[in-house]
Amino acid sequence: MPKHSSILELTNTLSVIDGIYYPQGDIPSDASSFLEGGGCKQRIRSLSPRSAGYYDWKMYELWIKELLDSLPANAVVVDAGCGDGRASHWILHNYPNLHVVAIDTNYEDLHRLLSDLQPTMRDRLTPICISVSELDMLGRIADALLCLEVLNVMDVPAGGYSGIASCLKIGGVAVVSTIAAESYVVHALLNHDFEQVQRLLHEGVYVDSVRGQNTHEFVVQFLTRSQRNDMRSMFGLELLRADSVSGVAALLIHSMNDAEADLEKAAVILDVDSWRHLNIPRVDVEWLSCSDSSI
Ligand SMILES: C[S@@+](CC[C@H](N)C(=O)[O-])C[C@H]1O[C@@H](n2cnc3c(N)ncnc32)[C@H](O)[C@@H]1O
Repeated sequence: MPKHSSILELTNTLSVIDGIYYPQGDIPSDASSFLEGGGCKQRIRSLSPRSAGYYDWKMYELWIKELLDSLPANAVVVDAGCGDGRASHWILHNYPNLHVVAIDTNYEDLHRLLSDLQPTMRDRLTPICISVSELDMLGRIADALLCLEVLNVMDVPAGGYSGIASCLKIGGVAVVSTIAAESYVVHALLNHDFEQVQRLLHEGVYVDSVRGQNTHEFVVQFLTRSQRNDMRSMFGLELLRADSVSGVAALLIHSMNDAEADLEKAAVILDVDSWRHLNIPRVDVEWLSCSDSSI
């Protein structure tokens, strides 16, 4: 299948090393901890029932299908902040007529995505090493866009929304997910980390640490209610709908240590998850459409 002509035009303006396209530019500071940490490896981690992402993915699949099912052949889907390509990989396998532009600032994860694909599928993937805030560089190529769990790790999440708005075609739809504030609080409470709870409440950040070393600050609730209602004038984006992934199973199973975690307990927790009174969101999802080219 021939590549989308605008993608060919785009990639002609970039350098390519080992199958990954690069512009000239510095890596933004918000992405450097993922590079130092060897990538997010979310696709690989999500295969494990001990990972929170394993439980989110069932919902993500439904929403991605809803987003993509009506797209025409050769349509372009941008996976913004793709990591090792949990979504890109799935789309390439399930939608043989779509082209995926996968972008991330972490070239190691882009390599991981590319090298785990069968060679015939690589023709339908364009991996580009840029920031979500630089998506205007692509022009309006996206018939649909996914940005899953990325904005909340950016220093300036609003820059992510501007980037998304700049590369969506007019009428194109984006599904943007971010870690829900409730999820951070429950996670900290389950870890008995009361310092973290205080920081969340008073400073609006969650500090991730690995073996006592702080690795990343996650921005919690970065748009105020009025900004959320005003996405049109700020970014030219229309909020079509908001969803959330229930976090009960993911959060509770994730909090069990290896000795405690077994599939029987996980099954009980999954039953609890369907008990609607315990509705703790793990991931908030926004459906946005690009409404205006003049912004
Ligand atoms: C939690 S992972 C999510 C990966 C993927 N979207 C998924 O759901 O599996 C966050 C990703 O955002 C990337 N990232 C962080 N800041 C970025 C930026 N400014 N532009 C592009 N990607 C960025 C990281 O490298 C990492 O791969």
